[in-house]
Amino acid sequence: MFKKSLIAMAMGGTMAVSAQAGEVEVLHWWTSGGEARSIAVLKEMVEDAGHTWTDFAVAGGGGENAYTVLRSRAVSGNPPAAAQIKGLEIQEWGDLGFLASLDDVADENNWDAVLPSVVADVMKHDGDYVAAPVNVHRVNWMWANPAVFADAGVDIPTNLDELWAAAEELQAAGVTPIAHGGQPWQDATTFESIVLAVGGADFFNDVFVEMDQAALESDTMVEAFEEFRKVNDYIDRGAPGRDWNVATSMVIRGEAAMQFMGDWAKGEFTAANMTPGEDYICAPFPGTADAFTFNIDSLAMFKQRTAANAEAQMTMAELVLSPSFQETFNLNKGSIPARTDLDMGKFDDCALASMETFKSTAASGEGLVPSMAHGMSTTSTIQGAIYDTVTEFFNSDMSAEDGATRLARAVRAAQ
Ligand code: GAL
Repeated sequence: MFKKSLIAMAMGGTMAVSAQAGEVEVLHWWTSGGEARSIAVLKEMVEDAGHTWTDFAVAGGGGENAYTVLRSRAVSGNPPAAAQIKGLEIQEWGDLGFLASLDDVADENNWDAVLPSVVADVMKHDGDYVAAPVNVHRVNWMWANPAVFADAGVDIPTNLDELWAAAEELQAAGVTPIAHGGQPWQDATTFESIVLAVGGADFFNDVFVEMDQAALESDTMVEAFEEFRKVNDYIDRGAPGRDWNVATSMVIRGEAAMQFMGDWAKGEFTAANMTPGEDYICAPFPGTADAFTFNIDSLAMFKQRTAANAEAQMTMAELVLSPSFQETFNLNKGSIPARTDLDMGKFDDCALASMETFKSTAASGEGLVPSMAHGMSTTSTIQGAIYDTVTEFFNSDMSAEDGATRLARAVRAAQ
């Protein structure tokens, strides 16, 4: 624990009340119902520790808008104290010299011991901790309304063939089979799950981590584009531009049968007081049960001008890894804790299944893959090139062969 907090506790305080009150301005894009409930937990803890929280929320799932705003604030020499940035983006900010070292807090709180290396590695720049992980999201999920499936007499699909057969029957029963939001990051989220289902984890790594040209242009990739095209047949006319949480609410209300989305969608079901296994179903994206596409959210800390604000920032970093924050935040957010040593007693079956697959794939070294759509596998430039191609394909009649060829070319040009 951070020394000042210990002193405060020894002096009779129950909270980590700090000697010097500072301000933390936190840039994030957690604005949906479930997301807002989650970030509110951290705000309350920071305020209880005696600091001021300045909320800097920039709406837009997936974070593209937030990243744009962050760049302009940083360029004008006025970055926030903390920003929800993650994956390789952390390295990009670290290379530019903007990030503060969290090593004192990390050492005192044993981050190296409590975090799995797959998480810790993402948080470090040149060996120093510069970001604090709040969670681990699994991206390759499917969210289903069981009543809608039952009414249509359809089982929850476990592979792609079953998926299209189910979608056909749901459609025949007059239901929108797939709730989709036509935004580039959502297209990419669905696309990467299909690539995982078609090609498996090794192929996923070849294309989205190694950016292997032969794999990007392979028959397997052509097949992935063909499968991805089928999604278009089963979404509704309102899909273009729709926010992801609006798509989730279609499943919640029974207006659509299922959504393909990471487990931040569970935060919406939780906020609507729904029980997994009864009111909604979480199932691995069809054909990906043994794999885990990870997306780790984190708060990177920017260098501060005043000692008080730096102290507030370090207190916040410490709080982020505290067991009570990790538990409450993740119960609301739909993810699992970034620390794998916590009691999971309060978590539901979806979270327990997620933790089990996360641990087993990490231990075996097979099936654990970094999300391309959520910035874990590649730079923002290459990710942007992939988004563009995938979205263009989805919204045109481009052939699957052309899709694969263009994807390979776009990645090459962005490298
Ligand atoms: C992801 C982020 C999640 C969730 C989602 C939708 O990129 O990691 O925490 O916020 O976007 O906004």
